Amino acid sequence: MKLAIGNDHVAVEMKKEIKEYLEEKGYEVINVGTDSNERFNYPVSGYKVARMVADGEVDGGILICGTGVGISLSANKVHGIRACVCSDPYTAKLSKQHNNTNIIAFGARVIGIETAKMIVDEWLNARYEGGRHQIRIDQIREIEETQHLKAAEE
Ligand code: RB5
Repeated sequence: MKLAIGNDHVAVEMKKEIKEYLEEKGYEVINVGTDSNERFNYPVSGYKVARMVADGEVDGGILICGTGVGISLSANKVHGIRACVCSDPYTAKLSKQHNNTNIIAFGARVIGIETAKMIVDEWLNARYEGGRHQIRIDQIREIEETQHLKAAEE
């Protein structure tokens, strides 16, 4: 399984540790974030990871900034992306099972490395359940695809 990982300057160390952790488990992890502590604007790597996921170049994405908020907001602007920022493994697991998230995000200033590892484990091991959830995913996609038309109508 191939993953892309991105981060800003706040999350360099956590990104490195998560990348190594996943590589030891056999995942291929493509790093598109910064490896420097110089200021780095999170939308840059949020967009890069989102683009790779949306284009099918990778099977999923991991994003880390200070809180996980800015970087996940950036990724969610890309059509087809369902990025979830979370601080607990339960939300990570359910976000895959019910919401079919294709990117998981978290904050290096919010959680510790062991919780981050648990989050990625739960998220990667969970499977989308489909069924009734698909109706809602389709509704999200419809908002994405038609909002510009609806705004023009109003
Ligand atoms: C950077 O200072 C910080 O704003 C960023 O890492 C992130 O927390 C934004 O959501």
